[in-house]
Amino acid sequence: MESKNIYYIDFGTQARFVEEIEKMNTEYYLANGRNKKYHIVTYGCQMNVHDSEKLAGMLNAMGYIETENIQEADLIIFNTCSVREHAESRVYGNIGPLKRLKDKKPDLIIGVCGCMPQQLEVAQKLAKLFPFLDIIFGTKSLHKFPQLLYTAITEKRTVIDVSENEDVVVEGIPTARKQGVSAFVNIIYGCNNFCSYCIVPYVRGRERSRRPEEIIYEIEQLAQNGVKEVTLLGQNVNSYGKDLVNGITFPKLLEKINEIKGIERIRFVTSHPKDLSNELIAAMRDLEKVCEHIHLPVQSGSTRILKAMNRHYTKEDYLRLVEKLKTNIPDIAITTDIIVGFPGETDEDFEDTLDVCKKVEFDSAYTFIYSKRRGTPAEKMPNQVPDNIKHQRFQRLVKLVEEIALKKNKQMLGKTYEILIDGRSKRNNLLVGRTRTNKVVNVKCPEEYMFKFVNVKILEAAEHWLYGEVI
Ligand code: SAH
Ligand code: SF4
Ligand code: F3S
Repeated sequence: MESKNIYYIDFGTQARFVEEIEKMNTEYYLANGRNKKYHIVTYGCQMNVHDSEKLAGMLNAMGYIETENIQEADLIIFNTCSVREHAESRVYGNIGPLKRLKDKKPDLIIGVCGCMPQQLEVAQKLAKLFPFLDIIFGTKSLHKFPQLLYTAITEKRTVIDVSENEDVVVEGIPTARKQGVSAFVNIIYGCNNFCSYCIVPYVRGRERSRRPEEIIYEIEQLAQNGVKEVTLLGQNVNSYGKDLVNGITFPKLLEKINEIKGIERIRFVTSHPKDLSNELIAAMRDLEKVCEHIHLPVQSGSTRILKAMNRHYTKEDYLRLVEKLKTNIPDIAITTDIIVGFPGETDEDFEDTLDVCKKVEFDSAYTFIYSKRRGTPAEKMPNQVPDNIKHQRFQRLVKLVEEIALKKNKQMLGKTYEILIDGRSKRNNLLVGRTRTNKVVNVKCPEEYMFKFVNVKILEAAEHWLYGEVI
């Protein structure tokens, strides 16, 4: 036995549906002289971005091609996020107008998937509000997409799949990553932490680790295809391996990945402070490919609020952990997530959050206004903070976080860093890359540097980006 109650299944069971749809699409091509096109709209975290790469991979395998233009798509999918109300309302707002498109093109297939419909009542609401939807499916049904699509096309009805297969890890889903040198790789799915504000454990299920050999094989393949940087994904990567019986842990997995030829940089998100072990800090210190950056969500600086959030650490624990990281890994960049206005948060609690920001000096922080989520314990907590106070605190927090980010970035001026160039800046003709510490740097350099490592001297610094020239 290699794991505790996890079933590993292979995408191959979907092959029949992939083949059937591919046949239909070939016929369509022969009759119309063009391929059917798809357009995916993705909301939410990196996990969802990577799930969309799997949707794209499955669609490519079925003979569709991608289009940037939603108007010319034959198939549109919204891959949704539930983490805050705002994320959900954007989805409701954007699906409505598609009715007009569907009226014009009756064969258009429209699907909604991801974290929203994984909640049965949301799936039902979507079906009721938008009867023109063809497919509605949750995160746990992602791999069944070909089957659901086949049913929707052949039976011409709305197909809803919100299965509760808690313990399944699916391997072998075709994945279409955007061309480049960086790739996301799942290592663990789900979350067991149940932070009292958070919907994720309800929409992503319990923690389940992929087998190390599958992860290694995937990364070796990526390396052979030119990938130099991998970002390992999990809601809490430090839990990796706890559900496997072969004694593998996250630091040991990092050791194995560090051996893979061609991979130069290893990143991971997210680490929960309560599970960040000394072994992991040592691995970050000793393994040369593991980058000097950690995303370590603090959520609040108040021990009282952290307890109510069910986070299992105190303000002091967090500060101690940061000290340990900074001592062991000089120049480490620390980024975080912070929620303001959690139920019961007083001015004093909020001051603690500001205090942690000042003490840690986060390189950057994602700041969020607390949003009530259905079915979470915090939803029913007394003393919900009024909107105007939440907004006032939020403004103060953002100002502080930005000041610190600018100060940190200015410390880089005049110094030289290794940048992996992986894109193009939208506004001007610069290429864009990242430092090992995950800072975005706009670089003036010729096109041939694309997807290469270059040494860049930093000449300008702003809150969220830097500018430099190759030396
Ligand atoms: N597993 C990751 C990411 C979770 S979602 C982690 O634990 O860090 C990303 C961030 O959204 C969280 O870190 C939290 O700061 C924020 N978030 C989650 N639920 C929220 C809510 N109900 N209201 C506001 N922010 C929330
Ligand atoms: Fe949500 Fe907490 Fe799990 Fe992160 S660790 S996904 S914040 S429940
Ligand atoms: Fe991610 Fe949003 Fe789902 S943050 S896990 S896409 S609820």
